[in-house]
Amino acid sequence: MKPKCVVTLELPEDITALLGAHYDLVEWSGRDRGDVEGLSAVLADAEGLLCTLSTPITEELIAHSSALKVISTISVGVDHIDLVAATARGVAVGHTPGVLVESTADLALALMLAVTRRIAEADHWIRAGHWQEGWQSDLLLGTDLSQSTVGIVGLGPIGMAVAQRLKAFGSRVVAWNRTPKVIDGVEMVDLETLFAVSDVVTLHTALTVETRHIANQARLASMRDGAVIINTGRGPLVDEEALIAELTTGRLRAGLDVFQQEPLPSRHPLLSLPNAVLLPHVGSATRSTRLAMVQRALDNLHAGVADEPVPYCANPEVYGVRQ
Ligand code: DGY
Repeated sequence: MKPKCVVTLELPEDITALLGAHYDLVEWSGRDRGDVEGLSAVLADAEGLLCTLSTPITEELIAHSSALKVISTISVGVDHIDLVAATARGVAVGHTPGVLVESTADLALALMLAVTRRIAEADHWIRAGHWQEGWQSDLLLGTDLSQSTVGIVGLGPIGMAVAQRLKAFGSRVVAWNRTPKVIDGVEMVDLETLFAVSDVVTLHTALTVETRHIANQARLASMRDGAVIINTGRGPLVDEEALIAELTTGRLRAGLDVFQQEPLPSRHPLLSLPNAVLLPHVGSATRSTRLAMVQRALDNLHAGVADEPVPYCANPEVYGVRQ
């Protein structure tokens, strides 16, 4: 009998066929309805779960999935999975670090440029038919990254890749990391200094209990007038309400790929703010990166179901628990 695996996303046909050859495959389609009970029911006797960050994997869900050996998420972030509960029950959690570093760093730079050079605003302006005169010396003036101090919160692989790009732009780069690092051309500072001195603050730390609202009201209030906040990490890294208040007065600007609630509800206050560039969580959205993520997630799934060590395991301590 083939082991049962549940998949919570639509995959290309060839991948589904490949999975179907290995597993008794259940394609759970209740994702959009948030049908937690339905997922719990299909997971009850499953050995593997292939999911994305759109499906919260709670302690309760894990507790009801007694045959589960591996949760393989097609993401580097694992904040949607109760890691403690998974580890306690001997369930390995596979994720996809490494392969999305460059794409996400590129997108952070794209957002910085979009906000500082007012690209989205200029695009809307021209489409709205406002370009009536020729070249104007004061039209849509922005700011230069080469003359900016950019503060990087979190110097993991993505933060480092952003620093590398900013060096090429000629920016002054300051950074904060939980454990300080020595990097050529990067000044390590504390978080308070970083928010106060930066023209652009970019968030690249994982979402944990400690980093939730790392961009809190006081730190946002300490930012320079006209400063920019970029978030390609996770929505709850920012106190969104406090950010909206700062954006509404026009004091700060923002480039956001992630939000407190995703998808962003229609009529959300951010949608009407012209000083925010908004993207639908597409940091890793290049064809080759997404393929690499799926491949890594499949490797993790196969290994976990076969009782082999999961190659990219977010809770390696699970193997101590299992013995
Ligand atoms: C991740 O992998 O955690 C990203 O947010 C989605 O690509």
